Parts: sequence; C-alpha cells; structure tokens
Amino acid sequence: MDRNLGVLISGRGSNLQAIIDAIAAGALDARVAAVVSNRPDAPGLERARRAGIETMYLSHRAYPSREDYDRAVVDELRARQVRLVCLAGFMRLLSPVFVQAFPNAILNIHPSLLPAFPGLEAQRQAWAHGVKVSGATVHLVDCDLDAGPIVLQRTVPVLDTDTPETLAARILVEEHTLYPEAIGIVLSGGWRVDGRRFLRFADAARSVEPAHRTT
Ligand code: GRF
Repeated sequence: MDRNLGVLISGRGSNLQAIIDAIAAGALDARVAAVVSNRPDAPGLERARRAGIETMYLSHRAYPSREDYDRAVVDELRARQVRLVCLAGFMRLLSPVFVQAFPNAILNIHPSLLPAFPGLEAQRQAWAHGVKVSGATVHLVDCDLDAGPIVLQRTVPVLDTDTPETLAARILVEEHTLYPEAIGIVLSGGWRVDGRRFLRFADAARSVEPAHRTT
C-alpha cells in the first residue's frame, strides 16, 4: 500500500508501459493501483488493461471547474490508497487542490533539461533553439508548469543530423529508464526538499542503485 502508484495519462502511455515493465522485471518495487485518463481513447488505457491494472476515464468536461475535476481524481486515488502520483503525458495543469492533496508526492516527466524548454513540444523547442545537449527531467510537481524540485535528469546529445522527431525518439528511450529509477528513489525515502533542491541523504543515495539503466 505504501508503494501504490496512481498514473495519470492523456495519450500514448509509453512511460506508463516502462513503469509497468520495470515493476514486472523486479527493477521497481511498486504497484500501479490505478491509471486515470482524461481522454477515453488514450492508448495507454489499453496498456494498463493488458497488465490487469484498474483504469478510469474521468472527463474534465464533466466537471464545472478545474478544482472540481481535480477533487474527483484525488478522491479516486485516495480510495485506492495511492501514495505517489505519476504524471505520464497527462496534459493538464494541476490546481492547488490536487497539489496540496499529495504534498511532495506527485512526479512528472518532461522531455527537456528543465528549466529549459518547459511546456509543449519541448524537444522541438530545444532543437529549434540549437542547443547541443538536451535530455529528460523527472521533478516533483507544484502548481507551476514543469517547475517543481528536480529529482533526476539525464542528458541526450543533440546531433547536427537530428530532426525534432529523431531527437524526441532518443530522449524517449532515456525517459523510459529515468522515470522508474526516479520513482524508486522517491518511494524509498531518505530525501528532503530544501528550497528548490531535492536532496538525498548520503546513506539513502548509496542504497538505491540505478535500477536498470541500459547505458
Ligand atoms: C513524454 O515525452 C513525456 O516526457 C511528456 O509527455 C510524453 C508522454 O509520452 N510529459 P507517453 O504517453 O508516456 O508515451
């Protein structure tokens, strides 16, 4: 129960799949208690069903305000004893209602080295800006977009031959190992937030090895 995850998606769900696979492989000690989507046709819902995970479609259009919607999602997650909420391509900004319901217990993955290139199409933004290095970031979620304390980051070089699509594909490969690793760190405890800084106690940092890094 204290390792119950709630994963929120809006689309493809490849990061959800990476979490499911890491758990199945024994690389991540956790359980996905529920997958929530705000879109009925999100392909990630099918991935969850295949893995025998409870899915929920909650339409934001059915609620009069962002806060009402967030309260409904929070209620569903609490009913399933979710300890850590993982945003995995969930295309909505969370209101304070949601953020305060799970203090320092909501994670997001973003396909750039934050604070560079927050928001949509981060890989294209990075490519168009001409940076030589980009990557992925897992961070705690606060009320601002792509802004909370950073748990883990991984770099990906930007090649002269890259298009936004090839860069996004290489970043995605890294996302799929970075997210389970970050979830493992957060679930294991032994960390604190000091201002904007996510800090691990020395003994905790030693006890959680990068679970299944492929490079
Ligand atoms: C990923 O690139 C993630 O970094 C961003 O949204 C995308 C979701 O992809 N937040 P998927 O649905 O996990 O395949």
